[in-house]
Amino acid sequence: MPTVYVNDKPVEIGTARLNCVQAAGLADTFVPHYCYHEALSVVASCRMCLVEVGERKPDGTVVMQPKVLPGCQTPVKDGTVVVTGDYAKRDQTQAALAYPADYVKGGQPGDRAKRAQADTLEGLLLNHPLDCPVCDKAGECKLQDYSYDYGRSESRMVDEKNQPPNKPGLSSKITLFTDRCIMCTRCVRFTREISGTAELMVNGRGHHEEIDTFPGRPLENKLAGNVVDLCPVGALGSKDFLYKQRVWYLKTVDQVCSRCSTGCSTHVDSNKDIVYRLRARENPLAQGHFMCDEGRYGYHFANSAERFVRPQVKRDGRFQPAPWAQVTPQLKQELSAAVQANARGVVAVLSPYLTVEEAFLLGSYFKGLSADVRLTLGPVPVVGEDDRYPKDVRGNAVEPTKFVIRAEKCPNRRGVEAVLTHLQGAVIPFADVAREALDALWFAGGYPEPGYAEAGIPSDWKAPALLVAQDLFPSLVTAAAKYVLPGTSSFEKEGTFVNHAGLAQSFGRAARPPVEARTELQLGYDLLGRRGLAQAAVVRAEVAGAVSWLAPLGGEVPANGVKLGD
Ligand code: SF4
Ligand code: SF4
Ligand code: FES
Repeated sequence: MPTVYVNDKPVEIGTARLNCVQAAGLADTFVPHYCYHEALSVVASCRMCLVEVGERKPDGTVVMQPKVLPGCQTPVKDGTVVVTGDYAKRDQTQAALAYPADYVKGGQPGDRAKRAQADTLEGLLLNHPLDCPVCDKAGECKLQDYSYDYGRSESRMVDEKNQPPNKPGLSSKITLFTDRCIMCTRCVRFTREISGTAELMVNGRGHHEEIDTFPGRPLENKLAGNVVDLCPVGALGSKDFLYKQRVWYLKTVDQVCSRCSTGCSTHVDSNKDIVYRLRARENPLAQGHFMCDEGRYGYHFANSAERFVRPQVKRDGRFQPAPWAQVTPQLKQELSAAVQANARGVVAVLSPYLTVEEAFLLGSYFKGLSADVRLTLGPVPVVGEDDRYPKDVRGNAVEPTKFVIRAEKCPNRRGVEAVLTHLQGAVIPFADVAREALDALWFAGGYPEPGYAEAGIPSDWKAPALLVAQDLFPSLVTAAAKYVLPGTSSFEKEGTFVNHAGLAQSFGRAARPPVEARTELQLGYDLLGRRGLAQAAVVRAEVAGAVSWLAPLGGEVPANGVKLGD
């Protein structure tokens, strides 16, 4: 088996084609890097990843290269020896390799790499403005982190720093602090290789190099926000987030984007129950490394002042607030009466924005009233067509596809369908029953745009006398309702979504629901007469035991999710 030695530790690399940075990762050794990114081409321009490289011969002797090499651009093969600047911190239980005498004469293994890294950082910091106190990236900046771990504490720079002007017009959503840029070109490569839109370029040469856009072509593609995540320093700033929070105040929870059926894995950053930022979470089973701007900036609805925040009951044509303690028993009693009178006339609409667990509890409650109550799948919003990247200069998608923004704008159609199939043997779209004269209708919404649900409702729709609307925002359904229950956004829930490809991802709660809003999971619990606080993991285990397709959700769900069968 091909073996590589990283700081004397042997690691088997199998058939993988790796560079020194990746091989070091396999050996649990971190090689700092700026310009290298797994999803982008290698340019080896920043020189932060310099390592000492050699070869171990079959007889055990080691031959080392005379100069340090960029680890990101140096492939490894059987017998490659990699010595990093952290060699002194190596695993002492590993026997040291037989390094040649002329190599150790000039310093201990790792000394050259360590010196080179410190020099690289000194060079990068020559013109860097060091405005960490006001920089959005402070606290998660690779220049800060690496300077602390690998740099020198003093600068020998005596000249004036180069201060090129900032470029707030780079895009409507992104600004460039030109003087903070370390010219790693990750952002440029992203627009050429992933979005394919190629708005960014390097203008000038040497000391005068600057990131810029082509005249009249601002950075406006639908994946553009990723360049802010990619920028290892604070040069590219998101206008949406700029100066709103210091990152150390933020609480980060791993979640799943709910704005389309791609189901991108995300980090949700919030403080005091307000969501401030979404970032892509790398997941090879879902979307890879990136996310789109629709999802990234599509969280503001959760912070909206227009949301329903407490239950309301219509009396004499006017909505009046009512406490849950009164509403829940009243609802149960009215629904039971309606089912006893005519179970076929009672319909529950389960939204494709509900989690698997919520759909299961709500569906179980209604089927528990009578097997004749019908469960339907709420309107599934579809906007345009799937949008594939990268694109060519004419805007046509080119193979191989690296990212897809899906036309289906909900996160969990497949999960809700699985629950519906289990509970009643078939998936009935709401449109199939919408024109019937119903006695009672429970409409679980949760659509981030009220228009999404309204588009699935016939224009001649007549609301039944007992209409319970559970939603985030006013819509034509909530306007016709007798009861309006506040819904919760995906940020305020815990649960599981199943994406277009059958990937089930479970996630935790990033923020608490506003005021008196109660999660749909808790409401399901309350309707079923269960006591205590609803926990998604408990319900998930129950679902896994009942629905065979969802059985893999029975144990601990891995962070990247589990792929369900077809
Ligand atoms: S703006 Fe950021 S990502 Fe782009 S080249 Fe400069 S440092 Fe790199
Ligand atoms: S592609 Fe879809 S799931 Fe991914 S970030 Fe965009 S809207 Fe969200
Ligand atoms: S990460 Fe290797 S040279 Fe930049």
